Amino acid sequence: MSASTNVALIIGSLREASINRKFAEFIVSQLPDNVTATEVHIADLPLYNQDYDDQAIDSYERVRQQLKSAEAVLIVTPEHNRTMPAALKNVIDIASRPYKESVWEGKKVAVVTASPGTYGGRVSGLDVRKSMQMLSAQMMISPEVYLGHATDSLNEDGSVSERTQKFLQKFVDEFVVFAGNTGA
Ligand SMILES: Cc1cc2nc3c(=O)[nH]c(=O)nc-3n(C[C@H](O)[C@H](O)[C@H](O)COP(=O)(O)O)c2cc1C
Repeated sequence: MSASTNVALIIGSLREASINRKFAEFIVSQLPDNVTATEVHIADLPLYNQDYDDQAIDSYERVRQQLKSAEAVLIVTPEHNRTMPAALKNVIDIASRPYKESVWEGKKVAVVTASPGTYGGRVSGLDVRKSMQMLSAQMMISPEVYLGHATDSLNEDGSVSERTQKFLQKFVDEFVVFAGNTGA
């Protein structure tokens, strides 16, 4: 086990007031000191095009390197039209190529979704899992976290409600173990 664990955080929403970002910030705030989370920014990434595979695109190299050097990846994302947002799919595609240079193979990946709607964006989360299975990533299986009616889980100041903090803590504890940090 390494002394410290690097987690790459991807937030599937580009929106400034994103509720998913708020839940992600809570999760990150609960990580132990020796687990460092660094956000992989995805808003500036050109739409993936296979023609770019033999070109050096700075933003592509940045995210590939960030993901490559992380022990685990945490994705916190909304659902857009019953699947993952295009910006999230874009970074997954970018990091899966060039052929045979995918960063996802064997990578530990966990996903959390949140939505104001009843179903918590779960199809988005399941679609992330589907892509990760195809890419031979090592997906964290449980607990599955799809936060429904998620705006009700936020206080007026944007902080996460006590009830949802308790629920998310179970995820955090499992994620830390999954990411390779047993605290031993
Ligand atoms: C283009 C678009 C499509 C959406 N489709 C869904 C959907 O399929 N399922 C869902 O639960 N919410 C859907 N929503 C509502 C989002 O869950 C809601 O806007 C949420 O706040 C997005 O998360 P964010 O605040 O982190 O950006 C959609 C929103 C947009 C803008």
